[in-house]
Amino acid sequence: MKNTIEVRGLRKSFKDTEVLKGVDFEVKRGEIFALLGSNGAGKTTVVRILTTLLQSDGGTAAVNGFDVASKPDQVRQTISLTGQFAAVDEILTGRENLIMIAKLRYLKNSRQVADDMLQRFGLTEAADRRVSTYSGGMRRRLDIALSLVGKPQIIFLDEPTTGLDPEARIEVWKIVKELADGGTTVLLTTQYLEEAEQLADRIAILHEGRIIASGTLQELKKMFPTTKVEYVEKQLSLEEIFLAIVGKKEAI
Ligand SMILES: Nc1ncnc2c1ncn2[C@@H]1O[C@H](COP(=O)(O)OP(=O)(O)OP(=O)(O)O)[C@@H](O)[C@H]1O
Ligand SMILES: [Mg+2]
Repeated sequence: MKNTIEVRGLRKSFKDTEVLKGVDFEVKRGEIFALLGSNGAGKTTVVRILTTLLQSDGGTAAVNGFDVASKPDQVRQTISLTGQFAAVDEILTGRENLIMIAKLRYLKNSRQVADDMLQRFGLTEAADRRVSTYSGGMRRRLDIALSLVGKPQIIFLDEPTTGLDPEARIEVWKIVKELADGGTTVLLTTQYLEEAEQLADRIAILHEGRIIASGTLQELKKMFPTTKVEYVEKQLSLEEIFLAIVGKKEAI
C-alpha cells in the first residue's frame, strides 16, 4: 500500500455551514504532508475526521488502509494526535504525564520511556515540576513528546508551533524531520507558510471547502511564472504562491 492516508470527496457541514465540500488528497508513507489554510478553512475538521474524533457527512477517508468510519479502532492503534490546543495535564509533572501515557499504551518500561522522552525534548530539568509552571514552548514540547510515546506510525500535528517563539519552533521542526527520517508519516496543519516550506515534502492548500492546489513546493512554484525584475530572477515564496492561489493576486 503506497498511500498511508487517502481522502476522497470528504464532506462535512456544521448546521447550515458547509465546511468541507469534497476534499481529496493522499499522503504517502514516511512523508511530511502539510495542510495549509486560513483560519476557519477546515483544517482541524479534517484532522478530527481522520483521527476518528468526528464523523464526516460523506466521502471516504482511510488511514493505514482502514476506513475511519467503519474501522476506528484499527485506525486509532496506528496514529497519534497532537491537537491544536495542548492536552497535557496541568496538575501532573512532565514525567508523570509521560508515565501515564506510557501505561495507557501498555508499555512495560514506562519509567524508561519517560526518561528518554524528557531527555530528547530537553525537559529533564523541568521533569518533576507541575506542568502548570511550564512555558508555552515547554508545554508544546511535552505535548508532542506525549504523542510519540509508543512509536505511532502516523502522527497528526494540528498547528504544532502556533504560539512558539522562533527558537522553539525550529526545535519542533527538527523533531518533526527526525520523525519522518525514521519512517513516521506526518500530517501537519499550519498557517505558517514558512513552516510548510521548511518541512513539508508535499503541501495541500485547503480553501473554501476544497483542496485547490497540492504538490511539492517546486510543483506549486511552477504554477506561477517567476517574475523578472531587471534581469534578476525572483523566486516566489510559498506565501506569495498561497496568496495567489487563494485569489489575492495583487500579492505577487
Ligand atoms: N463543532 C463545531 N460546531 C460548529 N461549527 C464548527 C465546529 N467545528 C468547527 N466549526 C466551524 O467550521 C469551520 C472550520 O473550522 P476548523 O476548526 O476546522 O478550521 P481551521 O482551519 O482549523 O481554523 P484555525 O486555523 O482557526 O484553527 C469554522 O467556521 C468553524 O467555526
Ligand atoms: Mg484549527
